[in-house]
Amino acid sequence: MTQEQQLCDIGFIGLGVMGKNLVLNLADNGYSIAAFDLDHEKVKEAIALDKEENTSEAARVTGCFSYTELLSKLKAPHLIVLSVPAGEPVDQVSESLIGAGIQPDDIVIDTGNSLWVDTVAREEKYKNNFILFSSAVSGGEEGARFGPSLMPSGSPYAWTRIKPIWEAIAAKVDPATGKPIERTKPGQIVDSGDPCTAYIGPAGAGHYVKMVHNGIEYADMQIICEAYHVLRNGLSLPTEEIADIFAQWNQGPLDSYLMEISVDVLRHKVDGEPLVNLILDTAGQKGTGLWTAVSSLEVGAPAPTISQAVYARSISSFKSLREQASEVLTGPVQKSYSDEEKATFIDELHDAIYCAKICAYAQGFQLMKQAEKEHGWKLDFASIAKIWRAGCIIRAVFLQSITDAFERNDDLENLLLDEFFAKQLNENQQSWRKAIANITLMGIPAGALSSALSYYDSMRSNVLPANLLQGQRDYFGAHTFERVDKPKGKKYHVQWSTDNKEMIKV
Ligand code: 6PG
Repeated sequence: MTQEQQLCDIGFIGLGVMGKNLVLNLADNGYSIAAFDLDHEKVKEAIALDKEENTSEAARVTGCFSYTELLSKLKAPHLIVLSVPAGEPVDQVSESLIGAGIQPDDIVIDTGNSLWVDTVAREEKYKNNFILFSSAVSGGEEGARFGPSLMPSGSPYAWTRIKPIWEAIAAKVDPATGKPIERTKPGQIVDSGDPCTAYIGPAGAGHYVKMVHNGIEYADMQIICEAYHVLRNGLSLPTEEIADIFAQWNQGPLDSYLMEISVDVLRHKVDGEPLVNLILDTAGQKGTGLWTAVSSLEVGAPAPTISQAVYARSISSFKSLREQASEVLTGPVQKSYSDEEKATFIDELHDAIYCAKICAYAQGFQLMKQAEKEHGWKLDFASIAKIWRAGCIIRAVFLQSITDAFERNDDLENLLLDEFFAKQLNENQQSWRKAIANITLMGIPAGALSSALSYYDSMRSNVLPANLLQGQRDYFGAHTFERVDKPKGKKYHVQWSTDNKEMIKV
């Protein structure tokens, strides 16, 4: 067989930002790729990029200009990776592959942020045509290129084929330190350490876990943005100083990728002006945070901090309404603070962020726990925390502590009950409260930070006012209630409309 006729290991469809970087990552790890995109310019671009970076003799990326050509260039059974937008495009590509002659034992991996129920339906729909496997990817452009976090799920048979490839291209963590092993250069590979990928479960489970990752990502980002808002508007600090505070925070328990990039964003200047001051304050969203919030309501696992983060984006998009309201609605007059007051406040804000972050992760993990029960999955939470320690957007030093918590107790119902996290919250809750009280008096919106405190206080309340609520429900709807002084499960109803308001056992 001539070199030209040699068949490739992997087919790749979708050469956008994520796609082309994943292709180069696979190529660095020794896999030959047949690459296709409906936009032929992108195919040429991927070939050119690979030529620039390829130091070996053999071409690593072969361009393909049709689905049929793609299949003809692959070793059988075919292994094809999709990096196309979630939703319709996944079906369009699937149908095209069927048209081009894909076989039932061929594997197609959807790496997009598909809605998990769509993935379940798709696996069923295409099962006679090919094996649809899913593996959401986190880490953005840089992660895709030098090591993402990968959340695979679906056919266990497909996983046996995919596993070595995924373990090769994933980010790696040094097991001794729990910290990412650096990989930053083209051609460089890391073949030691814990790979940030692990089989999550049956179809849909991986996309569900990635959805929750993104929900946590929304909360994490919003918490940082609220802190920025408070420092900017409440303490009137210049952007450079806020960046310095964040950089300092990034040395301690708040050390995370999102904190790190926030420092970079705040320090970036355009014509001497911090870029952040020139960015319009209306946030976009593609839907994964919203899906997480919806799912939390559906399965009854409270995730108020994640939901608040979604609402914060929605409220931000009402720019003109907010402008109108700012003309008619008043808030407190901003006061000035002494340097000492500012320093105390900044310390309290740090603790508030830390506690709110713990609560956001606790909400995300409890949601996955609830979904696991609901859908009959068997999720390994220590392993999920482990594969989020590097590569992904929510990577943080903190994820090692979550890993440890689930390794101590894999049945842990909620992170707040773990001895380490309970200690962190107990030690910092007082300054968290002070920060929230001050932020409220400043009139600065902080839905994520304060909803997390409310979540914390709700979770640690052994008595909540739901007794009155049950009374209200029974009053207008005869919905019945249980009594604290009677055996569990026995239901009572008061005949509220009668004069004697007799209580009956139902
Ligand atoms: C990641 C990101 C990635 C993407 C999200 C966020 O893990 O790499 O989460 O999947 O950036 O889709 O999107 P939105 O903020 O636009 O909803």
